[in-house]
Amino acid sequence: MRYVTLADVFAHPVAQKYLKRSGIAHAIATAYHAYRLALQYGVNVDLATKAALLHDIGHYEWYANGTWDYEQYKQNDIHAIKGAERAHKLLIRLGEHPKNAKEIALAILLHTDSYLPEGEFKRKPLQTIIKLADEADEEPGGKHHYRKIDETLAWKKIKQLDELVDRKMHHERLDDII
Ligand SMILES: [Fe+2]
Repeated sequence: MRYVTLADVFAHPVAQKYLKRSGIAHAIATAYHAYRLALQYGVNVDLATKAALLHDIGHYEWYANGTWDYEQYKQNDIHAIKGAERAHKLLIRLGEHPKNAKEIALAILLHTDSYLPEGEFKRKPLQTIIKLADEADEEPGGKHHYRKIDETLAWKKIKQLDELVDRKMHHERLDDII
């Protein structure tokens, strides 16, 4: 069952504030990639799409002369830590199941390698696909954070993805019954 939809998340002022900072177009594109990858890897599409939509909400503004100082960002960034915490708080507030909120927060925490010890770390499938989904939409120099999307189109895409997720979850329930 779905406790919180993408539309619930997207409508929340906290999500709006931080998604705008790191790029709504990138967040939505990553959520679509995550849906596709979740089907491919047999991962829960509800968790995958929400984790992907929220994966960058921990971003600070690394501005220098009006644009992002990408080098400074790369060196000092902890957006995944901040994002995991923010997403967790937001999801719990919206009524997400604590187990789901934890899984999503962990996938956000681990979507980047920037501060993980090299080598031995092994991601769970949900965590892997959030990383892959993010990378699938990345552009050199962090340009994906600047890509714009019209608000009406953004909402249309969110609702469309919610429908795809609902449909998939519904079919899984039917498979369980049969
Ligand atoms: Fe990202």
